Amino acid sequence: NNIQGFIRGIPKAELHMHIEGCIEPDMMFKLAERNGIQLRWDSPEELRAAYEFNDLQSFLTLYFEGCKVLVREQDFYDVTYDYLAKAHEENVVRAELFIGPQSFTENGTPLVELMDGVLGAIRDAEKAFGISAGVIISTHRHRSEADALEMLDAIMRWQDRILGIGMGGAEIPNPPSKFVNYFRTCRERGFRTCIHAGEEGPADYVRQAVELLKVDRIDHGNSCLSDPELVAELVEKQIALTVCPVSNLKLNVVSSLEDHPLRRLLDAGLQVTVNSDDPPYFGAYVNENLLQCQAALNLSVDEIVTLARNSIVGSFLPSQEVTKLT
Ligand code: ADE
Ligand code: ZN
Repeated sequence: NNIQGFIRGIPKAELHMHIEGCIEPDMMFKLAERNGIQLRWDSPEELRAAYEFNDLQSFLTLYFEGCKVLVREQDFYDVTYDYLAKAHEENVVRAELFIGPQSFTENGTPLVELMDGVLGAIRDAEKAFGISAGVIISTHRHRSEADALEMLDAIMRWQDRILGIGMGGAEIPNPPSKFVNYFRTCRERGFRTCIHAGEEGPADYVRQAVELLKVDRIDHGNSCLSDPELVAELVEKQIALTVCPVSNLKLNVVSSLEDHPLRRLLDAGLQVTVNSDDPPYFGAYVNENLLQCQAALNLSVDEIVTLARNSIVGSFLPSQEVTKLT
């Protein structure tokens, strides 16, 4: 009906999507064959049927296994380009994409192959579709701070082409406080920063991200609601939350979308955005996330407009570009 067409048509940004979490099962088989890798499923259908998760860790185990098919520059190019083509179809005008290089360099892929593939696809998709896109380097919180600092040094040669630095992986028991030096170094080198926090972790992890790491954006952030003073601080500092509702449902962060905190986050005045996280794994790209939330929470047209506007305002675009798009 009307609101569904409105959701599909409204220009939006996607700020929380992992390139290595966006390998469609057909692509997974194509890349495995190209690289001589034996998968433990017999068909793309069988692989898709394995997308049943209990929690974040059960997902991450499969996600890191899937990373093994991304080896050469062309592999990174193909996955990135296919996502941007799909995003363009969904009226995504701005896409900020995470990639976690540690998953690939540890298997012997040179960083230059990863960066050339991702940046080449972004350049070509910008030309082909008029979409605006960029990459955020995401390090792993279940690895050490020294590992993260080593990756930061390695990516410096692409500094001018990187939007910012993020962090994902197993949230518990790896609080933001583990990475104070790393995030300070990122900021000193001029990078914008964000971190996954408050997905499975408590409000205190979100507080640490804001107060100790001084990040510009929080990825997820759901659990902040249990700390009203923290909510006030997030509102005051206009820190955007990149919420991923269907991901939360599939990883049992929430028991149903009807119970999802999205509306409560909006009602609190937070700069909430809706994102897909790892769309093939969770069966929903960004528009499907918005559609399912609209149906479950009875979101109004005004609330959809707010979410779309928040996504543009919360992006790492320069302010004059934000003005043009809002
Ligand atoms: N990597 C990809 N998706 C993630 C998520 N939802 N949480 C933490 N790390 C991730
Ligand atoms: Zn994520």
